Amino acid sequence: MAKKDLDWANIGFVYRATDKRYVSNYKDGKWDAGSLIDDANVTLNESAGILQYCQQVFEGLKAYTWEDGSVVCFRPDLNAERIYTSAQRLEMPPFPKEQFIDAIDQVVKGNLDWVPPFGSGASLYIRPYQFATGVVIGVKPADEYQFRVFATPVGPYYKGGATPISIQVSDYDRAAPRGTGAVKAGLNYAMSLHSSVLAHSAGFAENLYLDPASRTYVEETGGSNAIFVDAEGKLVVPKSPSILPSITRRSIVYIAEHYLHLTVDERPVKFEEIKGFKECGLCGTAAVISPVGRIVNAGEEILLPSGMEKAGEVIGELYSTITGIQSGKIEAPEGWIHHVC
Ligand code: PLP
Ligand code: COI
Repeated sequence: MAKKDLDWANIGFVYRATDKRYVSNYKDGKWDAGSLIDDANVTLNESAGILQYCQQVFEGLKAYTWEDGSVVCFRPDLNAERIYTSAQRLEMPPFPKEQFIDAIDQVVKGNLDWVPPFGSGASLYIRPYQFATGVVIGVKPADEYQFRVFATPVGPYYKGGATPISIQVSDYDRAAPRGTGAVKAGLNYAMSLHSSVLAHSAGFAENLYLDPASRTYVEETGGSNAIFVDAEGKLVVPKSPSILPSITRRSIVYIAEHYLHLTVDERPVKFEEIKGFKECGLCGTAAVISPVGRIVNAGEEILLPSGMEKAGEVIGELYSTITGIQSGKIEAPEGWIHHVC
């Protein structure tokens, strides 16, 4: 085994085809045993359900190298649960949770040379996903599916890493009331691409979405949940049925309460309230916690007191605690670390 010759500290958040990926097929009412394959390409019928009606759900999680050389994943059981729920929402047969964990283990072990070394700041991003391979023409669920997992080494999602970013409030909505915002389906991202291109071309790193019914409350961004610190130092966490239940955000809430002994306020958060807040961060597997320094809404600018130089105090402490847990430097709560090898 020899680690790939990459400049690990500067690999960016891009796709690199690695050696092995996992595939399991669903046919005649059951998932097969699944195995690792070499081919990164997928061949589909022209009328496959994924191509016509977007029947697809996915996940994202990371593997890390610890100082002793072992490789771990962060809370993969929660990804197994979430893709199960996402699949049910899209009328797809859910993938068994134990088989999901086994698939992750196989893909990490099959691509060990691609797992970034300890201390590089990079990690192996793992992408489980499932989609309709079965043929449809009328609008209905397909009867055949494929579940796959690939992995690719990545650095920070937002350029600048721990440097605060600017975001804007999108004129478009991400999720409908009683829609699919709370599940991780590719369709939620397809419809965010137009506003994402507009945001990037206007110089913003991300879009912040408001609640689609009243456009009064903060929801989340295109690829992460938002968290805030209020004037009293409380962690304020937007709550809404159309927000994706981020595993990073749920972990941060636990860390805030049990490691940093902060008060956490999980509730609907009005956009107007941000004007009184001290700090803002975007959290997710890819984003980890990215500090936000500036939020623009229809030309009106909110400058967070934490500024554009570095993360505010609380966001900074949350970041160092969660990354410390993920890298083995800080003891994790029971069950958070899955040892692969
Ligand atoms: N919200 C959206 C829309 C996302 O795409 C993601 C990424 O997975 C998150 C939040 C963060 O979720 P997690 O922390 O589970 O990765
Ligand atoms: C993740 O954090 O895993 C995501 O899926 C976000 C995506 C926008 C890269």
